[in-house]
Amino acid sequence: MTSSLSAAVDALRAGELVAFPTETVYGLGADAANPDAVHRLFAVKGRPADHPVIVHVGSTGQLVELARNVPDAAHRLADAFWPGALTIVVERNPVRVADAVTGGRTTVGLRVPDHPLALALLDGFGGGVAAPSANRFGRVSPTTAQHVRADLGADVRVVLDGGQCRVGVESTIVDVTGDEPTILRVGGVSRTAVERVLGVPVALRTRGEVAAPGALESHYAPLVTVEVVEASDVGARTRALAAAGLRSGLLALAGMVPEQPDGVVVLDAPRDVDEFAHVLYDRFRAADARELDVLLVVNPPDTDGIGAAVADRVCRASH
Ligand code: TXA
Ligand code: MG
Repeated sequence: MTSSLSAAVDALRAGELVAFPTETVYGLGADAANPDAVHRLFAVKGRPADHPVIVHVGSTGQLVELARNVPDAAHRLADAFWPGALTIVVERNPVRVADAVTGGRTTVGLRVPDHPLALALLDGFGGGVAAPSANRFGRVSPTTAQHVRADLGADVRVVLDGGQCRVGVESTIVDVTGDEPTILRVGGVSRTAVERVLGVPVALRTRGEVAAPGALESHYAPLVTVEVVEASDVGARTRALAAAGLRSGLLALAGMVPEQPDGVVVLDAPRDVDEFAHVLYDRFRAADARELDVLLVVNPPDTDGIGAAVADRVCRASH
């Protein structure tokens, strides 16, 4: 174990917080079995106590340790997608996952992340690590260690740096505790892929009260006003904004926008939908750093795979 990794494991054991990379976004971790550590986590995040946090584990075998009455669907999803960008909501084992992790609810979201540093941390620690994205509540999720430091500063002493997150948007959340499996958040794994593994249609409930608690419309919001536009409307919209004295920026796939008027700040264009997800949060931050008033976003055409996750985050950021 490298010294920073062993320092991180020690910090978790001591009830302290550790920021670590995953393939989706950086997480801010605490020992899921230690209520004091979990309370500290919610305090630093600024997160309401009733918004449940995902628990990360190092191996698929821990599913049956941190959960109870695990249904066959959960095993099949874990076998197919872990390590990976899928969170499975199952019945919580209260001995291994503190009440505070899930705001006292009887379920828990579990995930084995697909990042070597995260897996080394989880293996070294051994237990479940409760970890929301490592940003202040309601802000843009971090995809680099620099983002974490900029957001959380001195509030987190140990930040493991694993470079830029590969996927770039959060995990897909599937709830298998009800009669029919339900997607509560679209993310790194597509609905079609989940349906293929389960062999049944999977409902999508990513809006309203039944959705993942805490998945507020206002989440993932940069300071800039985000506006979704059609590629063909970019020209007219930027001219109207300029006439109103506002500075606009553009985020779109390379080659998608027929007309880019002078004055619009064109953020580095992703070449495909995977890259769009990979850079999305970094571009939100770039728009803020350049003090744009409005960021126009042309969503990528893909509406099932990672493109659905991009469109979901852009939509939430625009509210
Ligand atoms: O990719 C990810 O999932 C990242 C990385 C760090 O793993 N984590 C992440 O955590 O996005 P967070 O806390 O920012 O979002 C967790 C989401 C919330 O919308 C929460 O409501 C939902 O997961 N969630 C957690 N436990 C749940 C449960 N027991 N039932 C329903 N939803 C749950
Ligand atoms: Mg988050």
